[in-house]
Amino acid sequence: MLNPPDHTMTRKSLGNIFDRHSLARLRPFIEKTADRLTDRFREEARQGPAEFCSIVADELPVMTIGHWMGLPEADHGLLRTLTHDQVHTQELFPSRSQLALSDAATARLRQYFTEAVQERRKNPGEDPISSWLRAWDSTEPDRARADAAVHSLALFMILAALETTSHVLSASVRLLAGHPHTWEWLRRHPEDVPRAVEETLRYDAPIHMISRVASKDSEVGGVLVREGEMVQLMTGAAHHDPEHYTDPHVFDIHRTQAHLSFGGGIHYCLGNALARLEATALLNSLLKQDARPRISTPPRWEPRIAFRRMTSLQLTLD
Ligand code: HEM
Repeated sequence: MLNPPDHTMTRKSLGNIFDRHSLARLRPFIEKTADRLTDRFREEARQGPAEFCSIVADELPVMTIGHWMGLPEADHGLLRTLTHDQVHTQELFPSRSQLALSDAATARLRQYFTEAVQERRKNPGEDPISSWLRAWDSTEPDRARADAAVHSLALFMILAALETTSHVLSASVRLLAGHPHTWEWLRRHPEDVPRAVEETLRYDAPIHMISRVASKDSEVGGVLVREGEMVQLMTGAAHHDPEHYTDPHVFDIHRTQAHLSFGGGIHYCLGNALARLEATALLNSLLKQDARPRISTPPRWEPRIAFRRMTSLQLTLD
């Protein structure tokens, strides 16, 4: 929601959180966790259909972010639930009760991260919250303002990272379960796994809508947008535009065109490389196993427009 210069300063204070070196440090943890979760899933699936979202897709992102930020594992469940409740504010038409749920979740998340920041003040370490505090302290003489800025950053990271990444994990497995030839192709060509991730991001983007407010009268695609008016960019629909993608409703991992799933411009998703790493690690882990996933019951989604969320993906392993 920030514009320059506030946005520039805030983004700079985060540092290169997911550059090549940071990702190389996180990779072993992510790969090991993906293996552990897929093993657990395979165990469950021995007895019959197993629910992929709760066992794997909802877990890997919160474990990854929790590990990275140094948040106790005992808090993961709470953070996941609060994220699910909070996200309604970003929808087009939230109901009154959804907004109330969202407000309560925001208040609880604020409290959680206020305490996390205070704790890091007392015991600074090498974790991201401590390094953001150091960055803010070097430019912001008011300690309370620095704390508030870091607390907002940490909270935003959690909101930006969890549901979105969970969705790309469950959507990629759903799509591959429904496309056995592509699954077999990937078993023979694991180097194409990143392509399957990109095509999932196009075909079923975790965020279907990006909002902007016009800072001045502008023309977008021949339509006049007046200063102060809000524009909803329907990126999920753009991804299925036949004028841009050939046979857009076909899931084809060999496409080469870019997509808009991580946005564009100065707000381009800061966590894109981490999300891509998690999705690639998960698919590699599943493909290593002999069994192929099959959908046993039609998946279920939250009835939302902006942030996609699959709530149930029942799979068997053949
Ligand atoms: C598949 C997973 C993800 C998707 C689809 C996604 C999507 C997006 C999109 C569309 C934006 C731009 C919003 C706008 O222009 O208004 C964005 C921004 C952002 N994302 Fe992600 N995201 C994902 C994962 C993550 C993760 C894992 C993190 C952090 C750990 C993250 C952190 C951020 C941040 C900090 C921004 C704001 C950047 C800015 O305003 O400068 N995202 N994301």
